[in-house]
Amino acid sequence: MKILVIGSGGREHALCWKLAQNPKVERILCAPGNGGTAQIGENIAIKDDDIPALVALSKEKQVDLVVVGPEMPLVLGLENALRQEGIPCFGPSAYPANLEGSKAFSKNVMADAGVPTAPFRVFDEFDQAVAFIKEKGAPIVVKADGLAAGKGVVVASTEEEAIEAVEDMMVRQSFGAAGERVVIEEVLKGEEASFLAFCDGINYALLPSSQDHKAIYEGDTGPNTGGMGAYSPAPVLPKEKYVETAELCIKPILRHLAAKGEPFKGVLYAGLMYTEDGPSVLEYNVRFGDPECQPLLMRLETDLLTIMFACIDGKLNQIEVKSSTQTACGVVMAAEGYPGAYPKGMEIIGLEEADAMEGVKTFQAGTKLVDGKVITTGGRVLCVTALGDDLAEAQRKAYEAVAKIHFDKSYYRRDIADKGLKRLK
Ligand code: AMP
Ligand code: GLY
Repeated sequence: MKILVIGSGGREHALCWKLAQNPKVERILCAPGNGGTAQIGENIAIKDDDIPALVALSKEKQVDLVVVGPEMPLVLGLENALRQEGIPCFGPSAYPANLEGSKAFSKNVMADAGVPTAPFRVFDEFDQAVAFIKEKGAPIVVKADGLAAGKGVVVASTEEEAIEAVEDMMVRQSFGAAGERVVIEEVLKGEEASFLAFCDGINYALLPSSQDHKAIYEGDTGPNTGGMGAYSPAPVLPKEKYVETAELCIKPILRHLAAKGEPFKGVLYAGLMYTEDGPSVLEYNVRFGDPECQPLLMRLETDLLTIMFACIDGKLNQIEVKSSTQTACGVVMAAEGYPGAYPKGMEIIGLEEADAMEGVKTFQAGTKLVDGKVITTGGRVLCVTALGDDLAEAQRKAYEAVAKIHFDKSYYRRDIADKGLKRLK
């Protein structure tokens, strides 16, 4: 079988690595890919948002399956375009992908489906948004409606900050069309967790809980990033609560979309806040999280290709999706300066030594392969991931592996998984 994976992050390296474990997979193509995917298959220089070129490539190479990593191609309708050509695609079609593509759509679906979420209002007019902020007062959350590369959410602690955010989105149009409409909602307090499920439109199979670390600095301080590390399971969402949590935040969404004739197939990611009153959904993503994907795939025991075809064919109820009882912890090594400006072009050494450790795998993100050398090209460079019998062991092994890897001007948080360990004490 020939598979095309779309994307270029650590998540896509992990997807290629996992898919390659199936002996039926003869060839993996990745567009545009990175240094890690180049070591598994062949990279093809097509951007992830160039839908016509991706469809043409899939036809030309006669791929048997397209696996979509990031949200953008899904929101742009890659699955729909491929389906027209009879090419199987893992990932939802454009309408359900709006769960991530439009925060207003997502919040309205949550409200209609009865999913717990922060009270909210949607605004298309700047003056009305400002009036609402003045009426409600701070703290308050302002969100750009459309895709804003993870930067479209401001948790404002003062009215001025909230109004500034709305001005930035609606007047200065810092996020382009994505900010023409805003969602304003109540602030929720608690600890966050990620909960992902494979979905076939009707049935779902849960992955274990995980937790991301969005802030750049230790102690969850500083600006938000794409994610500086993740571990699974997250003690804030223990196994005993998976079923009830899914009935609260996965099942109603699938039912709602199926009833509309727009079934959700792919990975549904619920970003949860554990408040004093229980879980509340902050957002949905319509794909694997990055970096949550890396620890989750390290733990996944069932063949990924089988799961993906079961999702596409509506047969998820016919297979068992199993994850190991071990804990996985992934530490992101970034280039100093990220999420702001950062240097590129540094050579990475020590990857083989790290991966030689039992239960350790280094997934590459912002890298390229040049004459057999791995060179940095991005802000998030690596996600060094380790399995352990418990969280303490997984964390210790991940940092032991990190210590074996070197590139100039590297930066990583030293407290990935500390929050989980504290909860276990
Ligand atoms: P979102 O893209 O909607 O998940 O928002 C990104 C991040 O903003 C979340 O992971 C939270 O840390 C934070 N956030 C979003 N909505 C809220 C809320 N209602 N209350 C508190 N924090 C929030
Ligand atoms: N790790 C968060 C995300 O992928 O959106």
